[in-house]
Amino acid sequence: MKKQIIRFRLNDEPVELLADPAQSLLHLLREELELTGTKEGCGRGECGACTVLLDGRPVNSCLVPAGKVEGKQVITIEGLTRSGEARPLQEAFVAAGAVQCGFCTPGMIISAYALLKANPNPTAAEIRSAISGNLCRCTGYKQIEQAVAMAAQQGRGSSTTTKEN
Ligand code: FES
Ligand code: FES
Repeated sequence: MKKQIIRFRLNDEPVELLADPAQSLLHLLREELELTGTKEGCGRGECGACTVLLDGRPVNSCLVPAGKVEGKQVITIEGLTRSGEARPLQEAFVAAGAVQCGFCTPGMIISAYALLKANPNPTAAEIRSAISGNLCRCTGYKQIEQAVAMAAQQGRGSSTTTKEN
């Protein structure tokens, strides 16, 4: 498809570039903007490795045409890391042993971040549901769920435990 100027906000900075609007946002991020923290797994919306925030909601960037981000706000794992907003989750993932090869971790952290932002005190079921679109082939999901619960607890600054159910 013919290239066009695409303007959006990326990790709180304005971006303007000439690109094929039909290519995926994932491709745009990784190949044109060199933000390789967002991973390419299946390329068809099944693994969640490519999860980014689009106007605050987690999406599979492999399924979003680049032209659709015009005027929108995209946050990638680089943005959350740079701002320090991912730190509680990153630390909890390490502490809970929720990282092995690390391929799924950026997408998991984005999904978990979106959950905790909307719901700082999630139940175990809500955590499970929030990361249900993110596949991990090497860590047990239990550790990942524990990590998200730990980060939630830390974020609330309290010693209350995550609700069961
Ligand atoms: S690479 Fe996008 S969902 Fe798998
Ligand atoms: S840690 Fe390897 S895929 Fe999740």
